[in-house]
Amino acid sequence: MAYPRVASLKTHDDFVAHLRDNQIEMPSDADVESGEESPLAQSFEVHGQTVGNRWCILPMEGWDGTTDGLPTDLTRRRWRNFGLSGAKLMWGGEAVAVRHDGRANPNQLLLTEKNLSAIASLRQDLVDEHESHFGRSDDLLIGLQLTHSGRFARPNIKSVTEPRTVQRNVVLDRRVKITDDSAIFSDDELATLIDDFIAAAVRAEKAGYRFVDVKHCHGYLGHELLAGRERTGKFGGSFENRTRFLRDIVSGIQAATNDLQVGVRLSLFDFLPFHPGADRVGEPEPGGEPNKVFGGGEDGLTIDMTETSKLIDLMHEIGIRMVCTTAGSPYSTPHLQRPAFFPPSDGYTPPEDPLAGVARQIEAVAEMKKRHSNMVFIGSGYTYLQDYLPNVAQAVVKAGMVDSIGLGRMVLSYPDLPADVTAGSVWQRKKVCRTFSDCTTAPRNGIISGCYPLDPFYKKREERKQLNELKKALQA
Ligand SMILES: Cc1cc2nc3c(=O)[nH]c(=O)nc-3n(C[C@H](O)[C@H](O)[C@H](O)COP(=O)(O)O)c2cc1C
Ligand code: SF4
Repeated sequence: MAYPRVASLKTHDDFVAHLRDNQIEMPSDADVESGEESPLAQSFEVHGQTVGNRWCILPMEGWDGTTDGLPTDLTRRRWRNFGLSGAKLMWGGEAVAVRHDGRANPNQLLLTEKNLSAIASLRQDLVDEHESHFGRSDDLLIGLQLTHSGRFARPNIKSVTEPRTVQRNVVLDRRVKITDDSAIFSDDELATLIDDFIAAAVRAEKAGYRFVDVKHCHGYLGHELLAGRERTGKFGGSFENRTRFLRDIVSGIQAATNDLQVGVRLSLFDFLPFHPGADRVGEPEPGGEPNKVFGGGEDGLTIDMTETSKLIDLMHEIGIRMVCTTAGSPYSTPHLQRPAFFPPSDGYTPPEDPLAGVARQIEAVAEMKKRHSNMVFIGSGYTYLQDYLPNVAQAVVKAGMVDSIGLGRMVLSYPDLPADVTAGSVWQRKKVCRTFSDCTTAPRNGIISGCYPLDPFYKKREERKQLNELKKALQA
């Protein structure tokens, strides 16, 4: 499929014309305002706290902790960059495992009692950096993302999957080498895991975080439970049972903490798992089971957010006020989750103009915001907009389609983008993420993550050579 690179759309008029000609719907403002009065600089309130503007940093791990789950200098550098970005909402920093078997890689952070002070100091590093640039942090809201990686766990050896899951799945079992039911968590094991989430949340509060994200996205354990329609027992089958894990964690956290809030990062919708087809273009992998997709239609290739909306109502009932939205999974539907021009090494050529992927997330969030105006929604997947990210961000915030603009990859290459937009500084094109996917390809091949093409710090690291050689070998 042919579609132009965003960088080739030289003006905002070209960008808007391209969207129009291809029936891709999203609003975009020709002029981006700066200064305290600008739409993206407006504060909002949540849980009685003021959040100073409409920018949010999305969680992004770097596969660069120690094997004990402690942050390294690389982790600290990334968090300091989050602090200097100018964004006032920090959604989780990065995925932090609640216990060892739930780590997505042997270098993922781990929130044990022993690691508490280090995880606290990571937050402090971010706050210090923020204060040194912006003079205040009273309007900065920082949460920590808590996770169990479920079927994508690799806690001990980077190349060895040690999946734990909630139900069998023909396509995904093949990918993580599940051949029998031994990987399936029993109800008792899930009850213990709920206690582990609660214990980790207590530690997060001690470490100074204002909220925890009980992660329900990207194919990890919480997300997989939401689609556990074929699981039997008290965590599977009915909607009530499939949401028990979340409800029990939230009530446990509320009972065990003083003032800690809970948010959820949620994949609003998903499709059947994709794989590279002819010419490596992504297509649904044969054998996919639509019944095991959360937020998907009967064919597994369309969006149906009936249950998503029901879940958001439930979240409100149990005291949750913030949903950090995302879509799909980086393993099975990366074109939904992380629209990119260049796929990562284990991905596929996008089956659509990636701008359609951005528009799909924007529209889904707007629909949820319309139905649940009492909730704060953070949007994701904007990085592919590249030069026009601020134009679309301003337009969707002004239209009330989302409350806060989440930044993922863009902040790895252009950490101070929010500050530049607020200050009205010259747009730094050379720092704009062009979605080369090196920050995903590297960790998928056992190398630490970072923006190797654009961040001068990673550009000169030894790992860059290793990554380039690997990419050459994969292309050969
Ligand atoms: C290197 C990398 C690491 C990521 N790590 C996490 C993570 O720890 N937790 C999470 O919820 N999402 C993670 N994501 C997904 C991002 O938060 C975000 O949803 C995604 O990159 C799409 O947003 P973007 O278009 O702004 O990049 C990661 C993405 C990247 C590129
Ligand atoms: S490696 Fe850099 S340019 Fe490539 S997708 Fe990641 S952040 Fe963007």
